[in-house]
Amino acid sequence: MSLADVAYVPEDAAHDPEIEAINEEAFGPGRFVRAAFKIREGGPHARDLSFVALHGDKVIASVRLTPINAGEGQALLLGPLAVRPAWKNLGIGKRLVRIAVEAAAVAGWGAVVLVGDAPYYGPLGFKPIPRGQLTMPRPVDPARLLAAELHSGAVEMLTGEVRHAALARAAGERA
Ligand SMILES: CC(C)(COP(=O)(O)OP(=O)(O)OC[C@H]1O[C@@H](n2cnc3c(N)ncnc32)[C@H](O)[C@@H]1OP(=O)(O)O)[C@@H](O)C(=O)NCCC(=O)NCCS
Repeated sequence: MSLADVAYVPEDAAHDPEIEAINEEAFGPGRFVRAAFKIREGGPHARDLSFVALHGDKVIASVRLTPINAGEGQALLLGPLAVRPAWKNLGIGKRLVRIAVEAAAVAGWGAVVLVGDAPYYGPLGFKPIPRGQLTMPRPVDPARLLAAELHSGAVEMLTGEVRHAALARAAGERA
């Protein structure tokens, strides 16, 4: 096992079964009741902004980004992030987050939001979102609601209920 043999590539549909297995292994059935899962149920993730770490032809880690809307703001929701147990603590998770956030910035997105541990994501540019600014579809510890701002002012545009961008668009079309 050597990090030199690990490649980071955009996700492909062929990776889906392995990504599902990695998420099952990392989060178990509890993943289905998470607030972020509920949002991701609303529509597809952005495959071109989601990445896997490969060792040979095996997926050993995955991160996904999903387009969301909240109030007047638009952003990407990061997650799930998961690394196969044998490959943990080698820097792969942080590398995947950096790659995904960089790809989001290049694509012109203003912010990346996630629910996660501030000690892990803080050094990667994520800061707590002010309490009460955003509502998730299921309860989350407000201290775990974090954002990385890629364009100045993009995070303060995110207000109220977070929804998958596809759902927010559909609601707008019905209005
Ligand atoms: C959390 C996870 C993605 C980290 O990936 P990884 O590749 O093992 O982590 P990295 O090698 O990038 O970073 C390791 C460092 O982060 C620290 N770390 C790991 N999880 C952490 C957490 N939840 N909070 C704070 N620090 C954490 C490690 O102690 C280590 O610190 P060190 O560099 O000082 O030794 C991985 O452990 C995992 O898949 N966990 C299960 C799923 C999960 O919890 N996903 C995150 C959901 S928000």
